[in-house]
Amino acid sequence: MTTAVTVPLATVRDLVYLLAIAGFILALKGLGSPRFARRGNQLGAAAALLAVAMTFTLPTLRHSGKNLVLALIAMVLGAIVAVPVARMVKMTAMPQLVAIFNGVGGGAAALISIIELLHLHSMGQKPAVYVTAEVLLGVLIGSVSFSGSAIAFVKLQELITGRPITYPGQQVINALVGVAIGALLIVALVTGNIAFVFVILGLALVLGLIFVLPIGGADVPVLISLLNSFTGLAVAASGFVLDNNLLIVAGTLVGASGIILTRLMSSAMGRSLPNILFSAFGAVITATGGEAGDASRSVRTGNAEDVGVLLAYARKVVIIPGYGLAAAQAQHTVRELADALMAKGVDVSYAIHPVAGRMPGHMNVLLAEANVPYDELEEMDEANAEMSTTDVALVVGANDTVNPAAHTTPGSPIYGMPIINADEAQNIIFLKRSMRPGFAGIDNELLYNSKTTMLFGDAKDTLQKLVAAVADA
Ligand code: TAP
Repeated sequence: MTTAVTVPLATVRDLVYLLAIAGFILALKGLGSPRFARRGNQLGAAAALLAVAMTFTLPTLRHSGKNLVLALIAMVLGAIVAVPVARMVKMTAMPQLVAIFNGVGGGAAALISIIELLHLHSMGQKPAVYVTAEVLLGVLIGSVSFSGSAIAFVKLQELITGRPITYPGQQVINALVGVAIGALLIVALVTGNIAFVFVILGLALVLGLIFVLPIGGADVPVLISLLNSFTGLAVAASGFVLDNNLLIVAGTLVGASGIILTRLMSSAMGRSLPNILFSAFGAVITATGGEAGDASRSVRTGNAEDVGVLLAYARKVVIIPGYGLAAAQAQHTVRELADALMAKGVDVSYAIHPVAGRMPGHMNVLLAEANVPYDELEEMDEANAEMSTTDVALVVGANDTVNPAAHTTPGSPIYGMPIINADEAQNIIFLKRSMRPGFAGIDNELLYNSKTTMLFGDAKDTLQKLVAAVADA
């Protein structure tokens, strides 16, 4: 006689959650390399779908018609807004989109924590101190992340100035708000009085705002990565409140990967995180950003025909893309040029600086959109090892990431930042519109180098001319 073994639904749910967690971890692994990033992304989305679907088996959703309907309405509304936005967003506007999605996540985590607390109170229960602590953590971190991300969004969208916004006594005010929140957290924990949670919520929203205002627009991607990490921690805190292991692990993964990315970005910029967060770095840009190079010195300008011949007869060409490639939307044209050169037997590769552009992986994503094969992309160290045997370094809309001041000028804002050593190539061609500096707001000695030729103009226009010139060469 066989006895049927019934597995409780809660156990099945936990097992499926475990599967989803494994999916998230493998997704992160995939996202670590351009070759597997797409697959990693799909795996992460599938794991999230599985997790969300399984959440509908929770008794609180299953047995409550009202909650079920509300959850479904929220999901449909979210999808109606998010799907077209994600499809239509331009590559250059991606940091704003990440800021908004991140802020919404932080806000949701804070709301969930508060609602759970209200729910416990409405049932006449005085929550244990550790539950109040979890709620407070979710509210504090989630709210800072929400208002900070909102300001990051309006800065990146240029709805307000991207420059650091500073005012007298700023550091003192920030410190006072921080201390007030700390004191209120203790009072709320000791008294268990729910009113303090709302005061902390208000102050945390203010803190997010005043924390982000002094950070310059171009540093905001690093900040978003940090806020993203905060949102992860807020989600983990709400996971504790709801007693949901999936939320705890997923939130912690986001928190940890966000902080790792923040560290990687700041070290690739040759700056410490406190320097980015507290030094109003963009003020430097404001001071010098409008300058158009050193007018007393001359540079060599060239024309597309001559450069086309130089490229077509080169043995090895390294393309160094930067922010200007994204601004000009010239990714397809640069690929056309690379294809035309390869058809002529030229060895072509792309040298990718980790912070070229304005967000992590900016160049990888841009070039992937133009279907540039991954094996043509070289990381900075790999490219530098071959630079001295390169005939032409073609710098397309990059500036700081090839600026030798990083090696030669102590005191320069980029001193110590690793760069692509374009100066070691036999010839250097710059595609940019003017002598204006890049993000760091400093002059670039390489523009005046005797091996350098400037091709002034919009990168896409110039690349189109180069494609034609290579075909004629
Ligand atoms: P930048 O140093 O900012 O230089 C970009 C250059 O592109 C400018 O000099 C600009 O010169 C040119 N440009 C702009 N629009 C153009 C167009 N339509 N056609 C041709 N050229 C154009 O860029 P980079 O070398 O990529 O360095 C990135 C900088 O951003 C670094 O300082 C980095 O620290 C910072 N940053 C990066 C990140 C991440 S994660 N990627 C995050 C925050 C900050 P013209 O105006 O003369 O054309």
